[in-house]
Amino acid sequence: MSATLERDSPCKVNLLLNILGKRPDGYHDLETVMHPVNYCDRLAFTRGGHGVQLTCNEPHLPVDSRNLVHRAATAFLRAAKISDGVGIHLEKRIPLAAGLGGGSGNAATTLLGLNEMFGQPLSEMQLHEIAATLGSDINFFLQTKPALATGRGEKITPLDAFPAMRGAAFFLIHPGFGISTAWAYQNLARFPAALNGRPGRAQELIALLQTAGLTAAGAKFYNSLEAPALEKYPLLFLFQEFLRANGAAATLMSGSGSTTFALAESASAGENLRETFRAKFGANNWTAVVPV
Ligand code: C5P
Repeated sequence: MSATLERDSPCKVNLLLNILGKRPDGYHDLETVMHPVNYCDRLAFTRGGHGVQLTCNEPHLPVDSRNLVHRAATAFLRAAKISDGVGIHLEKRIPLAAGLGGGSGNAATTLLGLNEMFGQPLSEMQLHEIAATLGSDINFFLQTKPALATGRGEKITPLDAFPAMRGAAFFLIHPGFGISTAWAYQNLARFPAALNGRPGRAQELIALLQTAGLTAAGAKFYNSLEAPALEKYPLLFLFQEFLRANGAAATLMSGSGSTTFALAESASAGENLRETFRAKFGANNWTAVVPV
């Protein structure tokens, strides 16, 4: 029996997602400040069998080539010219279609995990090349730091931990419905100002996160995709209004939604915010408090 390699697969939030315009290839140029969130799925890799055998605890997720983990494993084996099969089990905890990058993180963790299991046949650069072919958010998850991402999101500049966020905690809320990324981008066409953002906001925010306090930096959090998402789902706007009125240092929708996140000054302030939120909106929404 071959040994199993197990790895955590974290998620992310976008502290800023500034879309700069639509490109001839249909994607959008953007600048985004991405931050890892230590709330994780779990992946287990085993060598053997034939091809890629994926299993998952979440019955709604396909386990064939529609799943990014399956696609990442297939691309890895092909690039590394490996003819062995692999078994992969995905234990899902991160909500789906949530703007938290769960699926993208799973794909990156698969590339890193398989590369480790097979004795590092591919270089870091080769892993980045494969990641970019699988999706726009996957390169970020090949490393563990906060990062500035540009291009369509695949060009990563890692950054040191932000002093403004030291000791803080994320409070995450998923409302029970997902938002399709493709839908959010398509509907941005109706909001020209959000579609053609002013470049430079990311660097301005990064400077504040490095030198100012959390509230001053949080005032500059921005997400172009809120334009279509908050119009269609006003509940997400109400969440933010409530969180601000109840002491959140900052709040924003993450990625293409539907997750709303807030920053609290500490884990205990985050737990208090969660209690206040649940008293108002009920306990049906998925929530998590995660130290930065
Ligand atoms: O790259 P990824 O597969 O994650 O993107 C999902 C969808 O989001 C794309 O098919 C595209 O419609 C949209 N997208 C975009 N511009 C980006 C990233 C994603 O238009 N920079």
